[in-house]
Amino acid sequence: MAKVKTTFFCQNCGSQYAKWQGQCMSCKEWNTIAEEVIQKPEKSDWKTPKATTKRVSKPLLINEIDTSQEARLDMEDGEFNRVLGGGMVNGSLTLLGGEPGIGKSTLLLQIALKLQYKTLYVSGEESQKQIRMRAERINPNSNNCYILTETKTQNIFKQIEALEPDIVVIDSIQTLHSDYIESSAGSISQIKECTTELIKFAKETSTPVLLIGHITKDGNIAGPKILEHMVDTVLQFEGDRNHVFRILRANKNRFGSTNELGIYEMHGKGLREVSNPSEILISEKDGELSGNAVAATIEGLRPLMIEVQALVSTAVYGTPQRSATGFNAKRLNMLLAVLEKRAGFRLGAKDVFLNITGGITVDDPAIDLAVVAAILSSNEDVALESDYCFAAEVGLSGEIRPVQRVEQRILEAEKLGFAVIFISKYCKITLKTSSIKVKFISKIEDLVNELV
Ligand code: TYD
Ligand code: MG
Repeated sequence: MAKVKTTFFCQNCGSQYAKWQGQCMSCKEWNTIAEEVIQKPEKSDWKTPKATTKRVSKPLLINEIDTSQEARLDMEDGEFNRVLGGGMVNGSLTLLGGEPGIGKSTLLLQIALKLQYKTLYVSGEESQKQIRMRAERINPNSNNCYILTETKTQNIFKQIEALEPDIVVIDSIQTLHSDYIESSAGSISQIKECTTELIKFAKETSTPVLLIGHITKDGNIAGPKILEHMVDTVLQFEGDRNHVFRILRANKNRFGSTNELGIYEMHGKGLREVSNPSEILISEKDGELSGNAVAATIEGLRPLMIEVQALVSTAVYGTPQRSATGFNAKRLNMLLAVLEKRAGFRLGAKDVFLNITGGITVDDPAIDLAVVAAILSSNEDVALESDYCFAAEVGLSGEIRPVQRVEQRILEAEKLGFAVIFISKYCKITLKTSSIKVKFISKIEDLVNELV
């Protein structure tokens, strides 16, 4: 009997070892190395078309390279096209990652149903009936979408050869397995092998392929990091499962910028594109409430008005609680320390809770000033004027620092009917505004004087 070939892989980072060891040398994780049975494929099952077998690459002048092959397919979804940089490039591999239940299958099925091209949706996770039921809710009259429930790549390629689809969707890469590798589906060597076969297929037939990928508990795409290197585009679908908003962003894009962002809303009939996110993110309320402040942030390239809510109350236990949803907890602690030191607020004996409405996580430092304003407002129990908004970073010594693209933020705030925007004194703006007043502040004390 032929000797079974095995090798050891770190299940965390994908490094390969000749023998077992307790700790992975490259990612330093313990107990992540496992033995996987492999058998090197003699040849991949995606047969190379005759025309390309004898092709030898020759150097070409850059201006002479034909780019017509790189034409983009319109995905019939404004947000998705925007994130991809204007549609899907032929022959490209796109990986979509996200937490379980966030809506990855829904998003890609919805796009597959809308497309004018012949689409093959391969699912290893749900049965054809289940997908049909979901499709009926999303878009019952589609006639270009084929559903295949199969996990073996060799069988998938057989069906692809017969059907000749224009786009292939795979849900998910972790469920696929190739006959050439003995280890179970989802293992590092299987993921690598299946992706290699799919890349070969995509490049040789110029068919775009969309892959769904699971993520690990720390938010990385499950499987080897090399998977992200192999594909052309890595998209991340994120949001809070209990909220309706979902954000699609590109972590890597060989054919466009990674600054763009798509926003969707989950409802009973699938995902809806949100083209005016600011209006929805600002919650409607009766009267003015203390502890609320609006930040003019920029996510990707789009301005977004986001509401920040703070609750400051007397601490029940000896150690005050600090909790933040959608905002970095360390940054919250830092801002509280700045407030305590520079503005004399005794927040050390208070519990502070912070929430960004809509279940969105914000990285833009321009939200700092709104966080500080919301905390001050809740601490004093005085409501801020509902037409005030804020856009500045707060430094460690209590200085109000400028943020990028402040004019774009002012215009968005003006468009949404805000009357006053607070920004840093050090921002240089040439913009003439008519209905919004721009207030320049330089220190946190200035904000306290303005608001309280
Ligand atoms: P799903 O696409 O199965 O998530 P993933 O593939 O990322 O694991 O989406 C699951 C959630 O979406 C599910 O909990 C219910 C919700 N959903 C709706 O709210 N409306 C809908 O029309 C659909 C299809 C799903
Ligand atoms: Mg799914």
